[in-house]
Amino acid sequence: MSELASSARAMVAPGKGILAADESSPTIKKRFDSIGVESTVDNRRSYREMLFTTAGAEQYISGVILFDETLRQSASDGTPFPKLLTDKGILPGIKVDKGAKPLPFAAGETVTEGLDGLRDRVAEYRSLGARFAKWRATIHITEDIPSDLCIDVNAHALARYAALCVEGDLVPIVEPEVLMDGGHTLERCHEVTERTLRAVFNALYAQRVALNEIVLKPNMVLSGTTCTKQADVTTVAEATLDCFRKAVPAEVPGIVFLSGGQSDELATAHLNKMNELGGGPWELSFSYGRALQAAPLKTWAGKEANLAAAQKAYLHRAKCNGAARTGSYSDAMENAA
Ligand code: 13P
Repeated sequence: MSELASSARAMVAPGKGILAADESSPTIKKRFDSIGVESTVDNRRSYREMLFTTAGAEQYISGVILFDETLRQSASDGTPFPKLLTDKGILPGIKVDKGAKPLPFAAGETVTEGLDGLRDRVAEYRSLGARFAKWRATIHITEDIPSDLCIDVNAHALARYAALCVEGDLVPIVEPEVLMDGGHTLERCHEVTERTLRAVFNALYAQRVALNEIVLKPNMVLSGTTCTKQADVTTVAEATLDCFRKAVPAEVPGIVFLSGGQSDELATAHLNKMNELGGGPWELSFSYGRALQAAPLKTWAGKEANLAAAQKAYLHRAKCNGAARTGSYSDAMENAA
């Protein structure tokens, strides 16, 4: 097995998943605004240090996705964050896309930018200790969109990014996110997600990316947030498994879901149910941002005195999601905190 293929396997190791802590500067400002903390370089560093130094998190966390600023920062004792994580057996990753920008001649749709100079950035990130990367494309659902144009340009860019990462020795997390905003049904989400995944895998194949060297990070198949009929946990799990079995080749080592705005507990319950139902030929895991961080962020609230309690809240969510990897998460476990 190539080194990249074994890193990809390590990212989806049994019982473990990924912490997405790669909020860009505007996004982390939004998160800090919600707890009344100013988004300064040092507050961002302290918050991330709280997460990364949580004792025992490495039992459930295989990798952490970082933002450029964080990859270059260090803990208060001077240890660079990538080394701190690596010493715990956690793979450091890096968000390399430059965000979703309006797509010309496609109202309401976006294309993710960041390919220019990416080969050089990949080489630098690898030298700074990163072992994997992430690129997120966003697909919006209304009655009229997504267009084929939007799906195709995003699939093409995801494959271009993935090829450059593999060439430069980073495992690419390929993230096509069909957003949950809107009044659409679960069936419509299934249709758009399947269409998107097929385009992404066609592009990866056309661009000669070996599928055992990537990790897929998709949305789950959900009812739109304002849809009057909200599918229950079993329906979501079954629809998601059905969609991915149709569109994702078995050679992909693992699927790590994003939480996308689901509540912490629902994101865990959905993953748990999929694994309880037998999963797929791939590992089914998590790469949650909000669903792992909402509780510790709120508990921390920018105060040193809350550090231990915030780490406890993070460890609890990591443990619950670790259990969801084998379908052994339960209400009792959730409430044991
Ligand atoms: P959420 O789990 O909050 O959706 O974040 C995951 C992520 O990395 C989005 O790009």
